[in-house]
Amino acid sequence: MKSLCHTTHWDDKIVIKNCSCLQWRKLVPIIKELFPEISPAKISWILRTYKKNTYIALLDNDIVGFYIYYTISNNPDEVWLDYIGINKKNRNRGIGSLLLISLLDNAITEGFNKVLLSVRKNNIHSTNFYKKNGFKQISETTEQITYCKETDNSNSVKKSFNRKSETSANIINKIYLKILYFFIVVL
Ligand SMILES: CC(C)(COP(=O)(O)OP(=O)(O)OC[C@H]1O[C@@H](n2cnc3c(N)ncnc32)[C@H](O)[C@@H]1OP(=O)(O)O)[C@@H](O)C(=O)NCCC(=O)NCCS
Repeated sequence: MKSLCHTTHWDDKIVIKNCSCLQWRKLVPIIKELFPEISPAKISWILRTYKKNTYIALLDNDIVGFYIYYTISNNPDEVWLDYIGINKKNRNRGIGSLLLISLLDNAITEGFNKVLLSVRKNNIHSTNFYKKNGFKQISETTEQITYCKETDNSNSVKKSFNRKSETSANIINKIYLKILYFFIVVL
């Protein structure tokens, strides 16, 4: 709840969008800084392979964070978060939570029911971050925990939006019928 209140403020300033090839040059140093264990060759492979699934958060046109997700062809139900990161300067401002909302939105749009991710157990801040954002633990190994969030809740927002649109459509239909009825009666 706390983060949602704060993110309303950030919503006006933060733009989350698909990362264009032109923006890769600026994104690479951020990935390197946040995930030094990934080799430069692997970073460029990831960006080329998951081009469509790489999203960035822009603050005043500067990249402050990103996420990359992937899907598994024989599992039409799930989207996996591969990497998510916010540069140090901009952490704890709700931007990471906004990125998770964007990821869930993409999953819904593409027809997936679940978003999953694995995180190292010693990454306490991130495990708290996922729990705070409604992810539930579904399994664990000695090193990693896997979390899952179903897209149902976010879906209900879309459904209620659609219901509103249907209501507007009904009102327009009713007006149209009244006009038609008026002309029929006058004629
Ligand atoms: C994990 C990560 C992406 C979270 O991003 P973030 O932008 O800091 O996340 P949020 O701000 O949405 O939430 C994180 C914390 O900030 C707090 N917060 C949220 N909005 C806030 C605001 N406007 N002001 C102050 N605090 C806020 C939250 O309560 C939360 O605190 P808590 O977890 O201590 O309770 C970021 O820490 C990161 O990049 N880590 C390094 C890379 C990494 O480990 N990635 C995950 C690998 S699996």
